[in-house]
Amino acid sequence: MLWVKAFHIIFMVTWFAGLFYLPRLFVYHAMAKDPISNERFKIMERKLYYGIMMPGAVITATLGITLIYINSWAVYANAGWMHAKLTLIVILIGYHLYCGKLLKAFKEDRNRHSHVFYRWFNEFPVLLLISIIILVIIKPSL
Ligand code: HEM
Repeated sequence: MLWVKAFHIIFMVTWFAGLFYLPRLFVYHAMAKDPISNERFKIMERKLYYGIMMPGAVITATLGITLIYINSWAVYANAGWMHAKLTLIVILIGYHLYCGKLLKAFKEDRNRHSHVFYRWFNEFPVLLLISIIILVIIKPSL
């Protein structure tokens, strides 16, 4: 159980590295003017999304579900903090998939958002990370 939890956290960090860095790349990509930079950003974004973020998300979720299975769902059935955590994770997965949609738009040279949009967009996973960590560590009675 502790090994599973350790790797759950390791892959969560991997996932968040991408969730923080990909929108940063979008900021610079949205400002890029020359074709060489444009193509370079496309490669960096694709590798980050499919090589780091996707495995991070899938393995974090798989190990999280394994933790629920090991501890038994009965332990969490009445735990408001776990329900809140799972709700935030659904939102986080939505954010992750939306990043994929934005990546596709950049790939096809049809991005319509400004770098300012991506700067704000970049802040959203910070709020989710802070909220989820507080929920799992403090386990507030909700
Ligand atoms: C589908 C996704 C996820 C599921 C099903 C899941 C489930 C779980 C479960 C069952 C535990 C053990 C909780 C306990 O009894 O103490 C756990 C621990 C933990 N999870 Fe997740 N989790 C998921 C995603 C995440 C994400 C996205 C984060 C961070 C943003 C995260 C951070 C943590 C941390 C830090 C712990 C260790 C808490 C502790 O024991 O002190 N998890 N997770």
